Amino acid sequence: MRITVLTGAGISAESGIRTFRATDGLWEEHRIEDVATPEGFRRDPALVHRFYNQRRADAARARPNAAHRALARLAQRHELTLVTQNVDDLHERGGSAEVIHMHGSLLGALCAGCGHRWPAALVMRPPDPCPACGKALARPDIVWFGEIPYHMERIWKAVESAELFAAIGTSGLVYPAAGLAQHARRNGAHTIELNLAASAVSRDFAERRLGAATEVVPQWVDALCP
Ligand code: APR
Repeated sequence: MRITVLTGAGISAESGIRTFRATDGLWEEHRIEDVATPEGFRRDPALVHRFYNQRRADAARARPNAAHRALARLAQRHELTLVTQNVDDLHERGGSAEVIHMHGSLLGALCAGCGHRWPAALVMRPPDPCPACGKALARPDIVWFGEIPYHMERIWKAVESAELFAAIGTSGLVYPAAGLAQHARRNGAHTIELNLAASAVSRDFAERRLGAATEVVPQWVDALCP
């Protein structure tokens, strides 16, 4: 079966990686406009690097959980396209070979000048010169608010061709990711939401399984891979 899965911060929560909008979420402690916009980076690159250095260190310390590993199992039995909003590499470390990071990755660095990309150091600090053009414009390769998510052509195609679309651990508050379920449904897919609680787009799903990702995702995958 052709399955497209979208994951959000909730799938990594039980690995100890903070989500954004929970009571102890990242956006409770940092202003989005300061650490997750191009303007914020221009204003204070050191603050932005400190924010992502901390998230990179947290991700490096974290371990993939049963939900990440279950999705790797799913790919062995079905034609799976795995799309994530997450910038950690827990899907890859949990065994998923192909992961589409629509919001970028903590492992990547990008030159805000020439667009060159290279593997990010664990700690990035200005004025990190770009290895290609030498300008001190190295930034995390993360899609910030107001920027265009990566790989959208491929993602829309995978959603349109899916027989089954699942969203796991996402609040459904950020587009275009939040609009994928509706698009899948319009194209005839069965849609299921796996989450600790209802999301802003729960109405777009034909089915919902409430619970922690490490519980509900392996159960859901076991049912698809008898
Ligand atoms: N199991 C399943 N779901 C969980 C768990 C868990 N253990 N813990 C939290 N959740 C769910 C919450 O119920 C919520 O729906 O994960 C979701 C987390 O929501 P957000 O913090 O908003 O994260 P996300 O949806 O990934 O945010 C989307 O917003 O800030 C931007 O670019 C950032 O990619 C991010 C995007």
